[in-house]
Amino acid sequence: METVTTIGAVRERVYAWRRAGARVVFVPTMGNLHPGHVSLIETARRHGERFVASIFVNPMQFGPNEDFAHYPRTPRADEHMLASAGCDLMFMPDVTEIYPHGSERVTRVEVPGLSRILEGEFRPGHLEGVSTVVAKLFHIVEPDVAVFGEKDFQQLTVIRRMVAELCMRVEIVGAPTRRDADGLALSSRNQYLTPAERQLAPVIYATLEAAAARLRGGDAQFASIERSGVQALEEAGLRPDYFSVRRADDLSAPRPETRALVVLAAARLGRARLIDNVQVARPGS
Ligand code: PAF
Repeated sequence: METVTTIGAVRERVYAWRRAGARVVFVPTMGNLHPGHVSLIETARRHGERFVASIFVNPMQFGPNEDFAHYPRTPRADEHMLASAGCDLMFMPDVTEIYPHGSERVTRVEVPGLSRILEGEFRPGHLEGVSTVVAKLFHIVEPDVAVFGEKDFQQLTVIRRMVAELCMRVEIVGAPTRRDADGLALSSRNQYLTPAERQLAPVIYATLEAAAARLRGGDAQFASIERSGVQALEEAGLRPDYFSVRRADDLSAPRPETRALVVLAAARLGRARLIDNVQVARPGS
């Protein structure tokens, strides 16, 4: 695997691959890689012949009081992990390579509506930061396929919408969430948890699964399911931001007959803010 830091170097490699007829698959990340990221590369390997991963902690998607400065950065370990997973190229740009005029004044890409709900309500500007950097990375790498984890379900939905509406020539693939044995979704931010908090954290997945079981059983009392979810998380000692049942295709409010649903939750636990979701396919009437 080769590591490059400039846009020009990425383009050179990718153009050569494409001239040779290879399908190029891209996995954008913020680094501090864990087995969840490795599974994104494994998914990528089913969709093409050449693999690019980016490692870029994107300042634009962090709020003023968030953890940008302290976000864990482990470039050497990341490089090793990507090489072992079969990645061909690691793109690790500086902030000035991506935002030469600063991230505050950059041309922005926003998916209105979708970016302002759920995560957008609690992290204003976050999803705009994500769609902007992903659009830039797509223009740099020009991949045939890009892989994103389903753990960040709203992010994936925003990116799919951006790609469709801006007619971007890239296929978006969602990869299933990787979990620890007790159900906790793998995330770089799990390392902010103390051992005691780590014991509590799987309650998020358990609560989502309980809601999903009610929905699968035909319960369409969405407000009651959401209230029970919030209550269960609070009783366990977490501070939920939201626990919400939505349509899986566009995250709007579901109707009793909606079949494809997703239950999404975000909750604070100590220094960590954990997000997770469970998709539910209900049988037709
Ligand atoms: O999911 C992430 O790690 C980031 O939001 C992404 C997609 C790499 C954009 O910075």
